[in-house]
Amino acid sequence: MERIVILTGAGISAESGLGTFRDKDGLWTKYDLNEVATPEGFARNPDLVHTFYNARRANAAGAAPNAAHDALAELEARFPGEVLIVTQNVDNLHERAGSRNVIHMHGELAGALCAACDHRWPAPAVMQSNDPCPACTAAKTRPDIVWFGEMPYRMEEIAASLWDADLFVSIGTSGEVYPAAGFVDEAKSAGAVTLEINLEPSRVPGLFDRVISGPASQAVPQWVAELLARS
Ligand code: APR
Repeated sequence: MERIVILTGAGISAESGLGTFRDKDGLWTKYDLNEVATPEGFARNPDLVHTFYNARRANAAGAAPNAAHDALAELEARFPGEVLIVTQNVDNLHERAGSRNVIHMHGELAGALCAACDHRWPAPAVMQSNDPCPACTAAKTRPDIVWFGEMPYRMEEIAASLWDADLFVSIGTSGEVYPAAGFVDEAKSAGAVTLEINLEPSRVPGLFDRVISGPASQAVPQWVAELLARS
């Protein structure tokens, strides 16, 4: 059975109105990632971190999946093999488009995490660090987001899926952040065909057998239609 592993990044949600990180007006041009996306930043100023993620949670709630998310959900529903999305994104647009087989390796805006006991629960729209943990009542609530320097989630499952992949597709990511940036290497060395779909070639275009350049809302539906027509 053919297996497709699709890595997505902020570029797939760009046309849904959610910012990317490293484009010219990206989030990291407005915020210092050391202040809002590291455990040290959270320890120093939890309120600033919550303000940042409360704003992103509100943006994500107000956004809608675009044609690229919809096309990947259609691929999962209609492709005769297995389709797994490994997303770096913390929005839930893949799920809202209908995708079921999704791994959020960098966590989710929809999740709350207790920094004292690791309990997880659905995030409120507006999170404060002194929200008491429902399990241990500690007032150390944080977004369930993987920050720089922390281990991404479900890495063993991801490594196994890359090992078994027949086709690896990277969509809307700059290929700047590891371990995700190394997935194309892992898939390629395990024998997968590799495809990049991005607004412009990312940092590692040489590792892809094929590169499709263009906005995801156009390039992804075209690629999915082409693949389903052949399947
Ligand atoms: N269609 C397709 N690709 C696009 C579009 C679009 N409409 N708009 C932008 N892109 C591409 C950009 O060319 C860029 O290569 O999306 C990519 C976005 O790159 P980044 O902003 O670096 O986002 P991402 O790769 O997802 O970042 C990875 O870094 O900050 C951390 O944890 C954060 O998950 C994030 C990780």
